[in-house]
This record gives sequence, structure tokens and C-alpha cells, in this order.
Amino acid sequence: MPAHAPAPDAALLLAWYDRHRRDLPWRARGDETPDPYAVWLSEVMLQQTTVAAVRPRFARFLARFPTVEALAAAPWEEVAREWAGLGYYARARNLHATARVVAERGGFPRDEAGLAALPGVGAYTAAAVAAIAFGRPAVPVDGNVERVMARVFAVAAPLPGAKGRLAALAREVGAQAPARARPGDFAQALFDLGAIVCTPRRPACALCPWRGRCAGLAAGLAEALPRKSAKAERPQRFGVAFWLEDEAGRVLLRRRPARGLLGGMLELPGTPWRGEAWGEAEAARHAPAPAAWVAAGAVRHVFTHFALDLRVLAGRVAVLPTEGEVVGREEILSAGLPGVMAKAARLGLRGARASASDPG
Ligand code: ADE
Repeated sequence: MPAHAPAPDAALLLAWYDRHRRDLPWRARGDETPDPYAVWLSEVMLQQTTVAAVRPRFARFLARFPTVEALAAAPWEEVAREWAGLGYYARARNLHATARVVAERGGFPRDEAGLAALPGVGAYTAAAVAAIAFGRPAVPVDGNVERVMARVFAVAAPLPGAKGRLAALAREVGAQAPARARPGDFAQALFDLGAIVCTPRRPACALCPWRGRCAGLAAGLAEALPRKSAKAERPQRFGVAFWLEDEAGRVLLRRRPARGLLGGMLELPGTPWRGEAWGEAEAARHAPAPAAWVAAGAVRHVFTHFALDLRVLAGRVAVLPTEGEVVGREEILSAGLPGVMAKAARLGLRGARASASDPG
């Protein structure tokens, strides 16, 4: 006997999904067979990015790299440029590396274990692709699914400790015959239920196909679940970025090391990021060239593990240093800068345009 509230009925959820499913560009329609490459791409993009943000970028990425072979054959610089602004750049590096393995072996493995064995493919992605692209009985568990399970079964233990328990409950519901007959739809029905009805705040319980079986609702706890352990506070870091331009309006960029935060992405040259603010003279020692630096403003950017205060100093030289990459200042916002660097570049650009139009 399971030691928890009675499980909700997978068939009710699937019937709800058939009427209310979202029309999303990565979903196959009617009798179409899903393209495993498109499913994989969408699931990687959706891991830390909202559906609204992914929608246009998914279509653009597929147009640029229509097949896994095309992605595998592309140089990293082009993949980085296409991913720029989506954040969590390790995803793009893994995507590219995995595409090469998949192209080499002649296609995707067709089950969860084979997918999970690919380098760079985690448990969530393996389960999502197995279920959605190949109809295998796997249950991908993301934050939506955890929330739905915590509520339906009234699990009071806090996240992240409760993750294993919530995943086991999701798999238990997914083992019901109607879910096993339609694993891809079952997974996406859970995502949609979490996104449309069982929302983090003010869940629309009156519209829920599982309201008759929801232990959280019955206990008046739905909105309060899942509980979360107190988070450590985000530390603050400080950095200085240099907008260095030559007489022809060309700006110096450099590429970050392949590993680590923003790995392999373009950036404005700058100081290391540290826990203490930088004095101007001290920061200038990290500049790519000596110049008369002018403050162009500061941007704040919140990363997963810290918040960054990035000041921008602008300067001009006759000839740019040779190490690094050079881009015309009016092209800089389409050069493929990650979000924080695009914000910094806007400040540099604004200053540069102002001084260009200043007759003095
Ligand atoms: N979130 C993660 N994967 C999703 C999908 N396939 N559809 C909707 N939301 C999702």
C-alpha cells in the first residue's frame, strides 16, 4: 500500500490536456512524428528559460541549424552567437558537444538509458526526449511537475530535499496505464497543468482536472506548497568592464575561457569579479591598454549564485591591441554578447555616440 494520499487519475489529466493543451512550436501536431532533434533542443532551451522567451529563439535556432548534423558541423563561435542572451551558456556548450556525438553515431538513442548515457544529457532531458520524441514510458520531472506533485499529495517536506520523493510520486502516477499509453502527452500535460492551472501563486484550482483528488487543496494548503528551504543569501560581486574604442569606432572584445561562467562567450575586457568594489586606478591596471578612462555607468546583473555590479569605463586609443576580437560599435549589439555584456555595451555605446555628436 502506498503511504500517501490516493494517486490522482492520469486519464483525467490526459482528457484535460486534449482540450486545453498549449499550441507550442516544438509540439508535433496530429499524426506528425516528432523530430527528436527539435524535441531535444526545445527541452534544453526550456530548462532555465521561460516558454515566452524560448518561443522566438527556438524557431530562429532551428532555422539556423535545421538538423543535428548542421549543428554538429557548425563552429562554436556561431553556436555561441545564436545562443547569446538565453543565459546558462553551459547548455549551449553541452548542446554542441552532444550534437557532435549524436551526428557521429548516426542519430539519437531511442530510449531513456541510451539518451542519459550521452555526454551532456542529464536525467531530465533524457526522460523528456524518451517520452516526447520516442513514446517511451519516462517521466521528466521539472519544477512544474514537482509543484503539482507536492500539492496533489500534500508533501510538506521542503525542496530541494523533497526532490527524490516528488519524482517517485510523479513516476508512480506515470505508471498508470493511460499515462504509459501516451508518455509524451502525459509529460506535457503535467507541464501545462503546472503552467496554466497549478501555478506557483494563486493556482486556479476550480479549473483543475485533479481537484477531486488533491490532498493539498483539501487541506487548504495548495498555494503554500511546495515548501522551500531557506535560501542562502546571494553574495555581491564587483567588476569593471572596459569599452575601448579606436578612431574608426571599432570596439575591442575578447572571448572568455571555454569553461566556467559565460564560458566561451564574448565579453568586454575587464577586471576579475570579486567581493570588494574596485578603485579606478586599481581597475585600470587590468585594462587592455592605457587610456584616459571615463565612467560610462554601471549595470547590475543577477546570476544564479551571485549578483554582479559591473562598472563600465570608456576610453579611446589610436590603435587597438591585437589580442581579442574587434567589432564596429554599431554592430556590437548583434555580435552575440551574453545579457550582462549587452547591458554594459549599451552604456559604452551611449557614451560613444554622445561624444561623437558633441562638437566640443
Ligand atoms: N517545459 C519544459 N518542457 C516543456 C514542454 N515540452 N512544453 C511546455 N513546457 C515545457
